[in-house]
Amino acid sequence: MIDVPASCRRWVLASRPAPDVREDNFRLESGPVPKPGPGQFLVRTLYLSLAPVMRMYMLDGAGIEKPLEFGDTMRGRGVGEVVASRHPDFAVGDIVHGKLGWQEYSLSDGSPYFMMYKVRQRVAPFSTAIGVLGITGYTGYLGLVDIGRLKAGETVVVSGAAGGVGSICGYVARNLGCRVVGIAGSEAKCRLLVERLGYDAAINYRSEDVEARIGELCLKGVDVFFDNVGGAILDAGVAHLNRYGRVVLCGRISGYLKEDGEQYRMRNWWRIGKQRACMDAFFIYDLEHRFAAAEEQLATWIAAGRLSWQEDVLEGFEQMPRALMRLYSGDNIGKQLVRVAQPLMMLEPR
Ligand SMILES: NC(=O)c1ccc[n+]([C@@H]2O[C@H](COP(=O)([O-])OP(=O)(O)OC[C@H]3O[C@@H](n4cnc5c(N)ncnc54)[C@H](OP(=O)(O)O)[C@@H]3O)[C@@H](O)[C@H]2O)c1
Repeated sequence: MIDVPASCRRWVLASRPAPDVREDNFRLESGPVPKPGPGQFLVRTLYLSLAPVMRMYMLDGAGIEKPLEFGDTMRGRGVGEVVASRHPDFAVGDIVHGKLGWQEYSLSDGSPYFMMYKVRQRVAPFSTAIGVLGITGYTGYLGLVDIGRLKAGETVVVSGAAGGVGSICGYVARNLGCRVVGIAGSEAKCRLLVERLGYDAAINYRSEDVEARIGELCLKGVDVFFDNVGGAILDAGVAHLNRYGRVVLCGRISGYLKEDGEQYRMRNWWRIGKQRACMDAFFIYDLEHRFAAAEEQLATWIAAGRLSWQEDVLEGFEQMPRALMRLYSGDNIGKQLVRVAQPLMMLEPR
């Protein structure tokens, strides 16, 4: 056991988004640091992850989690260090990632609910355990490989390309021998896609006609459209699908702030049938049996200098609500994180 302070902070749900997420949807509270009981361990949070689905956690649980009540600690994944343990498999000093919640210290019993994994690699910063070498990276890699069934020589288009998941898809597709085009919301993001994130070309959906530009940049059509945003951008991608093309429905952030009746209605859905194509949604935790293989491949590419990653890190626990809002305004570039604390026991790899 190392010294822990007497009290710590947590962000709780104070009101529901209507429809935008605002800072006053959350309240910062303080309370005593919990003590681990038998079979439990205490985690000191180092980094917390922000994800677009969190707005749905605040409303109805997104069909994934129990709806949050007012006063409940906001849910979310993070990386932390074990600072006290009465659990046989987790020792003081272990670096773990899992469901820590928006709090500086959290208890876990290591049961499946917490999806707690040990960080074993010491080659990349611990933040990558909730980025390129964690669920975000697995989503990009397994979405393309398992769901998209990507083959060398194919053409891939990725929406939300400069976000957390999208920023990984460029090099994954390139390393698998594909041509890859990204769609993002600013000139700066488009430059980054091509200069740093492995994309062959980029489309700015705010200033360009996406459907026309996909046609110009993908002269042989689109084999896989990896969609993070939904709506009109998805429709534009479907318009260019090749015979036996695949649409990977990863996310639909453009619809997350809309009510059911206001959702975008697709014009080009008939192209799916015409092209004998398919559209597959997936939930990354259903592919848990593939996480180890995904991590190994991504880490191998990183070690070989064939995969870079992009993080957008805000400093300080008090930034959590602002960091979440950045996802919906498009301010984040790469994986949005908050650094909560520096590790006490382990030097962080750089
Ligand atoms: N299927 C799964 O199991 C799974 C797992 C993880 C994540 N996801 C989903 O994958 C997607 C990407 O997740 P992430 O964590 O990496 O988030 P992210 O892409 O970093 O999300 C934020 C980005 O979304 C874009 N965006 C925001 N509003 C938009 C709109 N109305 N239209 C188009 N783009 C918009 C913005 O980029 P621009 O500036 O380019 O607009 C923003 O920077 C999300 O939809 C998430 O829910 C799914």
